[in-house]
Amino acid sequence: MRTKIIAGNWKMNKTYAEALMLAAEVKEAVKKTPNADNMLTIVAPPFPFLSEIVQCMDGIDGVFVAAQNCHHAASGAYTGEVSAAMVQSTGATHVIIGHSERRQYFGETNEILLLKVLEALKHGLTPIFCFGETLDQRTAGEQEKIVAQQLEVLFALTPEDARKTILAYEPVWAIGTGITATPDQAQEMHAFIRSSVAKKFGAAQAALTTILYGGSCNAGNAKNLFDCADIDGGLIGGASLKAPDFDPIRKAMIACLRQKQVG
Ligand code: PGA
Repeated sequence: MRTKIIAGNWKMNKTYAEALMLAAEVKEAVKKTPNADNMLTIVAPPFPFLSEIVQCMDGIDGVFVAAQNCHHAASGAYTGEVSAAMVQSTGATHVIIGHSERRQYFGETNEILLLKVLEALKHGLTPIFCFGETLDQRTAGEQEKIVAQQLEVLFALTPEDARKTILAYEPVWAIGTGITATPDQAQEMHAFIRSSVAKKFGAAQAALTTILYGGSCNAGNAKNLFDCADIDGGLIGGASLKAPDFDPIRKAMIACLRQKQVG
């Protein structure tokens, strides 16, 4: 069975004290209601807090810390940037790569994103590779074409590296807008992604690939999304900033998994 994941992307939010408080609350919630088997919780705080939040989560089963980005070069004269080696040295284990905000505001292209994914993998970090179409692209019926182009990054990897990479489909029109893809829209795209992975790397690998949904996922819609056959969890933005919003999403995944076990 593939790994199910609930990941919180805190983006550029929280001061030091606020971030530590939120991490402590997530930790307490997981201690109280542990993750189901084969399920991970990931928090992605801003860079300056990574190391301390890694320490905060130490010893808590199934909880990992991710960076929100890393630079594609190994080191050097890139003022203000953070390398994969630096992220890895904090004890963080995952890194979000290719978030639509990075593509939109920082001009990250497929070429750069491939270098970032490779750099992350080289340092033993698990990439959470994000992609998704804009509203204009969906309105024009081009969503599959766009996603296929974005998946070229994954398809440029060796099967072994691709196997280590988590995918996150995040339709840009749903991010931070309060408009969630319907379970049917999300499932349709996730099935397309999985079949594309199957064509490239084979059915067995596709069946083991974790594909997250992101975009206005919240306590109210999480369960219906996670019940879909090809949706393996969520990358949560706004609703990850408060533990009482985030924890019900985590519990929705636990409930889905329990239900599947019984059924
Ligand atoms: P959102 O963000 O949940 O606030 O829509 C998701 C994301 O950008 O990862």
